[in-house]
Amino acid sequence: MTAMIVLGIETSCDETAAAIVTDAREIRADVVLSQLDDHTPYGGVVPEIAARAHLEHLDGLIRRALEESGLGLGDIDAVAATGGPGLIGGVIVGVMTAKAIAAARGLPFVAVNHLEGHALTARLTDDVPFPYLLLLVSGGHCQLLVVEGVGRYRRLGTTIDDAVGEAFDKTAKLLGLGYPGGPLLEKAAAQATNPGRFDLPRPMVGRPGCDFSFSGLKTAVRRHVEELGGPLSVEDRADLAAAFQNTVAEVMADRCARAMRQFKDLHPQGGALVVAGGVAANKALRARLQRLADREGMPFVAPPLRLCTDNAAMIAWAGIERLRLGQTDPLDFAPRPRWPLDPTAKPAIGKAGVGSGVKA
Ligand code: KG4
Ligand code: ZN
Repeated sequence: MTAMIVLGIETSCDETAAAIVTDAREIRADVVLSQLDDHTPYGGVVPEIAARAHLEHLDGLIRRALEESGLGLGDIDAVAATGGPGLIGGVIVGVMTAKAIAAARGLPFVAVNHLEGHALTARLTDDVPFPYLLLLVSGGHCQLLVVEGVGRYRRLGTTIDDAVGEAFDKTAKLLGLGYPGGPLLEKAAAQATNPGRFDLPRPMVGRPGCDFSFSGLKTAVRRHVEELGGPLSVEDRADLAAAFQNTVAEVMADRCARAMRQFKDLHPQGGALVVAGGVAANKALRARLQRLADREGMPFVAPPLRLCTDNAAMIAWAGIERLRLGQTDPLDFAPRPRWPLDPTAKPAIGKAGVGSGVKA
């Protein structure tokens, strides 16, 4: 049997991406164009600029993905695009493009939940069997989920305030490290000469449940910055970055340890701990989770760094998983700015309003 070949499209935030993936778990092409330079002057993603940039670049990226894979549109069996959640202008660009290709070529179309793309990446890279425990950590989300199958997610915990990527970005800004914060903060932390110099609170550690909180941590960093006064030295920056990063890793490990217990109650036969989303690119966090998983006797799976941050290979793959189950979407599918993985999950206690929710 010849492999099923799927074109994936991702446009939900500030990365325009196209990829070609087969159901034999082969990434034939994976191109990502970061809009970093477009947004850096504003210190964050500007939705209108993002949508315009997606529109400008997406066709060229799809062409490049086809060239890199050595395939033509005639070889593609289906088109999958992020259908939400995310910045709606960008999502519309990706969905309209995917629908146009599907309609013109008579191909099935799949609208993929961006979070499901992150959630299923470990099955593309490592063929991880269901069920598994997923720590989904990105710019817009911080959740612990039991992944029981495609479309079958049970949320064990979420953040009651900031998403963890958001906390990295805001803290990096506070330290004058610039944007995007996560990778720059990690780089600064690596230069720390005295990572134990600053004591930071560990929000939620030891508390029942699996929810997260990060706003107190960010405030504590701000207080240290104010106490230091004047411009921060390179050492101050590095030590504060290391303190923040290590504290986040400790908080994550504590919450994951609790979630592991709940996971084992639900699935005594066991399963892996999987990490996904942009923050999963953080090496200190990966190392801390690896230690925890070793202690708990659970396999630990972290996708390669470039498949942790936003990309279209994960969207093509999630499309393949859905197509295998015979699931496709009609061409009148409406993009969804909000789209929870577990619609039955109640909002976390203390969550103010609807949260940022623009990034996933
Ligand atoms: O999944 P993602 O690429 O985009 C969405 O939010 O959907 O995640 C982006 C987030 C940003 O907040 C970024 O600062 C964070 O992931 N991030 C990192 C690292 N690389 C990206 N955070 C910590 N350490 C990193 N190395
Ligand atoms: Zn994402």
